[in-house]
Amino acid sequence: MRENILNMDFLNLVAQRYSVRQYTDKKVEQDKLQKILQAAQLAPTACNNQPVKLIVVESEAGLAKLGTAAKTYGAPLAIVVCANDRACWKRAADQRSTADIDASIITDHMMLAATELGLGSVWVCNFNCATLVKEFNIPQEFEPVNLLIVGYAEGYEPNPRHFVRKCIDELVVKESF
Ligand SMILES: Cc1cc2nc3c(=O)[nH]c(=O)nc-3n(C[C@H](O)[C@H](O)[C@H](O)COP(=O)(O)O)c2cc1C
Repeated sequence: MRENILNMDFLNLVAQRYSVRQYTDKKVEQDKLQKILQAAQLAPTACNNQPVKLIVVESEAGLAKLGTAAKTYGAPLAIVVCANDRACWKRAADQRSTADIDASIITDHMMLAATELGLGSVWVCNFNCATLVKEFNIPQEFEPVNLLIVGYAEGYEPNPRHFVRKCIDELVVKESF
């Protein structure tokens, strides 16, 4: 991972990111955490309802609790992204909720901010929801949607799966499906 690259253009930043599943013991500095949280704050949400709450977990005890609900890969920092389905916007036509979408845009903003700050990260959805709710006192109206695991990734190489991407012609259709 490169440290603090200035003037990195957006596509280079996106291309540099990959999932990290092994971290060093080095803690994430508080100024970097604040920048990651600012990226979350600036993320768009449907109708600007901002129905998300972030639980920042950095303590040894907190990370141990988190480890009972999900793999944390030895990272020094995790952010539990929770959404309040009651507070989020619903599409009038069919009441479809944007809770997961709002939570995921925030997660993505934080993940890319972490990359820009020279940090590794991995997005985790494979967690035990009931355990998280219990261990982190998550109120009934909120649901944990994503975990973002963050830390330093000395020499960690991307999983070969990272390089497997559909070509744009396979990803995109023009004008009609
Ligand atoms: C919504 C979502 C859920 C994911 N959940 C997990 C997870 O539970 N555990 C894990 O190790 N990786 C998880 N990942 C990471 C993906 O496996 C990874 O992004 C994908 O394989 C592409 O690799 P790359 O991130 O290195 O480009 C998740 C990613 C996304 C976007």
